[in-house]
Amino acid sequence: MSYLRNCWYVACMSSELADGPLARTILDEKLVLFRGENGEAAILQDRCPHRFVRLSSGKVAGDAIECPYHGLRFDGAGKCVHQPFEEGEPAPHNRVRSWPVVEKGGLVWLWAGEAESADPALIPASFDLLDDPELKTVHGYLRIAGNYQLINDNLLDLSHVDFIHPAARLPEGYETYRNKVEQRGDQVIHWLWKPGSTPNFIQAALRDSTSVKADVFSHLEWNAPALMMLRTGLQDPGEPEGSDLNLPSAQILTPETETSTHYFWTVSRERKKDDTSIDELYVKALTHIFSTQDGPMVEQAQEAMGEEIDLFAHHPVILSSDAAAVRARRILQKLIREEQGHSSPAPGKIAAA
Ligand code: FES
Ligand SMILES: [Fe+2]
Repeated sequence: MSYLRNCWYVACMSSELADGPLARTILDEKLVLFRGENGEAAILQDRCPHRFVRLSSGKVAGDAIECPYHGLRFDGAGKCVHQPFEEGEPAPHNRVRSWPVVEKGGLVWLWAGEAESADPALIPASFDLLDDPELKTVHGYLRIAGNYQLINDNLLDLSHVDFIHPAARLPEGYETYRNKVEQRGDQVIHWLWKPGSTPNFIQAALRDSTSVKADVFSHLEWNAPALMMLRTGLQDPGEPEGSDLNLPSAQILTPETETSTHYFWTVSRERKKDDTSIDELYVKALTHIFSTQDGPMVEQAQEAMGEEIDLFAHHPVILSSDAAAVRARRILQKLIREEQGHSSPAPGKIAAA
């Protein structure tokens, strides 16, 4: 299995670059991420071409990063722009590899394919809301020791919520929800909804209406390889969707390696935007949920799968609640194969949804 290359991956939250260079492994590459004084984020290979020291252990100097060993400096394009004790211009090969970067929604995105195809418009339009000034958006990050597709599976099959998230469980239980999986091109949409439900504690704290019952919905849009926008919310019975509460949440997975993942999340709200106690509640609650409830399940699955990261090679039992997750796996497999120049999926590799 290999990675989809011609797509955007989130490399870090913008806020992570406030205190100097950041070392991060993405798609098995050791990278250094930094923000120059010009305000632009840059991503380079984390290896000085002189004696291979980690540039991330150096410092930002102007718009460049300075190697801590003999002081060579490289700009955001990876070009050596300063060599302290040499005459003349740096040699053309005195450079490090750089990756195309765009900053959007409080996130730094890396293009993993050919630089000339790096088009910011290829970030799914649903992520535009992260820049909506009418919304207050909270960001979070954690690392999980499991393949990113296992976390895709987790988010696309919310039947686990009843079991591992007792406090955030769907009101009245998953089985009482109406459930629909839809494919639009290479997107997978998973709908859950329930008329006349009882909101959970977060929904109850944020909604405007004081009525006890509400029509509750969850709408997850998956885009390859692992860019998801989850909208949950509610409305008084019969009112337009989300009219009482609309909570969009980005769920973004970036492979660190084949067996570990950078998990970025956001939650946006249009109510009580100045109440920082809600920001803190989100960070605390979601970090707790992802790291102590979902994370260990994914990590156990990864441990059992070992080096073979193709789920279907392990002949898993497929349940009806896997429909969205299996569809996403099938689309991703198709896109990776197309990118590598194969026209059709390998027979028998992917089970039907
Ligand atoms: S190792 Fe980086 S300047 Fe020498
Ligand atoms: Fe979960």
